[in-house]
Amino acid sequence: MNIIEMRSVYREKLDLSIDECDFIYKIILKELCDIDPIKIALDPTFNLSSKSKNTLLESINMIIEDYPIDYLINKKNFYGIDFYIDENVLIPRPETEELVDWLINDNIDIKDQKNVIDLCSGSGCIGISIDINNKYLNVTLSDVSPNALKVCEINKKNLNSNVKIIQLDLNSISKSDKEYDIIISNPPYISLDESNQIGKNVKYEPDIALFTPKNKPLHFYEKILEFASKNLSKNGVIYLEINPNFISEFNQLLTNYTINHVNFKDDFRGKKRLVKLTF
Ligand SMILES: C[S@@+](CC[C@H](N)C(=O)[O-])C[C@H]1O[C@@H](n2cnc3c(N)ncnc32)[C@H](O)[C@@H]1O
Repeated sequence: MNIIEMRSVYREKLDLSIDECDFIYKIILKELCDIDPIKIALDPTFNLSSKSKNTLLESINMIIEDYPIDYLINKKNFYGIDFYIDENVLIPRPETEELVDWLINDNIDIKDQKNVIDLCSGSGCIGISIDINNKYLNVTLSDVSPNALKVCEINKKNLNSNVKIIQLDLNSISKSDKEYDIIISNPPYISLDESNQIGKNVKYEPDIALFTPKNKPLHFYEKILEFASKNLSKNGVIYLEINPNFISEFNQLLTNYTINHVNFKDDFRGKKRLVKLTF
């Protein structure tokens, strides 16, 4: 089978527009078969090896089953950086890039070192992006999941990052060996009541990365604030991604703390999803 014939199979089997089918076909050719997609135009009769043919056909079957392409190719671009990802971690989202951008812009002119901790780090996309963009920010990544921490290690090594990686369970918080000036987190925030409304795209993502305990949509924000009460420096700042469906409950939670400024920000979809708490 040649490269054009396989493109027709993709167009036929995937229930998507021709442009989307071609886009996916090119990604799989490049990332999984190591074939430059330019060959489609320059060498349309190029014959696929049986290995490439099998990979391409298996990939279509997985995509038909809604398997995310990012997991298929073990790669996701986040804040301009290619991160390794697999089924042990959440696929980084564009909304989270806006949270990272907020922190980076707020600290663009600093000349003193600050300690930053990324709680619930998953792949490490938040903390490693911060580390790569500002040498004055000393970043620690933390997660409860040993498998997520392995992904952090892979990204740290691949991206030549200086982050420190620790295992930390927000359900059993103690005083850390150092104070943090900044906490940033995108914790699990989908309540089980909402789980039937979420898209089929998340069905391969780990439950531990998505869901809060039953009837406790704000569980992880309570824990992050408890962590902050023990480990955030005096004038520290917290950047959080939050669930836009629970803003009033979130505001209610904040009334238990003395916070100087609470700034909400809409994400690019116009949803109130980002917040900065200045103490
Ligand atoms: C929504 S994912 C966020 C991943 C990453 N920060 C991102 O934005 O792509 C939430 C992460 O919280 C972690 N997590 C779940 N329960 C936790 C706990 N009790 N303590 C610490 N981390 C936890 C999960 O393992 C998962 O990696």
